[in-house]
Amino acid sequence: MGKLPRVVAHRGASDVNPEHTLAAYRRAIEVGADGLECDVRLTADGHLVCVHDRRIDRTSNGRGVLSTMSLAELESFDWGSWKRPWADLDDEAELPDLDEMKVLTLDTLLATVRDAGRPVELAIETKHPTRYAGLVERRLIEALDRYGWARPKLGTESPIRVMSFSWLSLRRMRTAAPGLRTVLLMDRIPLRFRDGSLPTGVSYAGPSLELVTAHPEYVDRAHKHGHQVHVWTVNAEEDIRRCREIGVDVLISDRPELAVRTLAEP
Ligand code: G3P
Ligand code: CA
Repeated sequence: MGKLPRVVAHRGASDVNPEHTLAAYRRAIEVGADGLECDVRLTADGHLVCVHDRRIDRTSNGRGVLSTMSLAELESFDWGSWKRPWADLDDEAELPDLDEMKVLTLDTLLATVRDAGRPVELAIETKHPTRYAGLVERRLIEALDRYGWARPKLGTESPIRVMSFSWLSLRRMRTAAPGLRTVLLMDRIPLRFRDGSLPTGVSYAGPSLELVTAHPEYVDRAHKHGHQVHVWTVNAEEDIRRCREIGVDVLISDRPELAVRTLAEP
């Protein structure tokens, strides 16, 4: 068997913690994930925060469209109890650290990766980047530059991979920061890239689990072109094993603990 896939925790350890919270990311690091995944969105006052949906209704106790709210407004909401209502907890000891349940800024997540005590990858997905005419990408590069991760110095490696369904977004990132690694997310493979090649400026392929299940031969094809294959979202044990068999490089999972344990099986 070749190298084991690396495990990237999708929205943190989001099977047991509220997604995109510091608690979810700390847990993923604790259980041995090789990397973390997050989605980023722009607030009305120009901060990048880690949230998946356009609206905040599903993952907080607030309502409305995220991009119309300031960071201070977003910080006033509870981003944790939708997953496990605090009101149901009898035991004081079980009460979560509320600081870990706030809306998470990208900056805090970058600092968490830097301070993890071991190398941890961070896959950052830009959501609907075309709506903001490149502003998301500019803010993202500024944030990464504060850590020296957009343009890593010779001999150093950036833990960052920028992911998007939008080739335009990845191209903008690479034009501004040519050393950054990028992943093109795909729920279908365009005809001209079925041979495993990728558009200029894209480092890695990011097919869905459904795609590689239907076309396992795609993994070898991408490898022949020198591209790693990052597959999302792999949660069932049988799929984790199958990804290992077909030589997937990275599996993105809501269940990092299960994925790490399953991959450790002989
Ligand atoms: O890792 C890629 C995956 O996160 C894309 O789908 O909707 O979960 O952001 P979504
Ligand atoms: Ca995502």
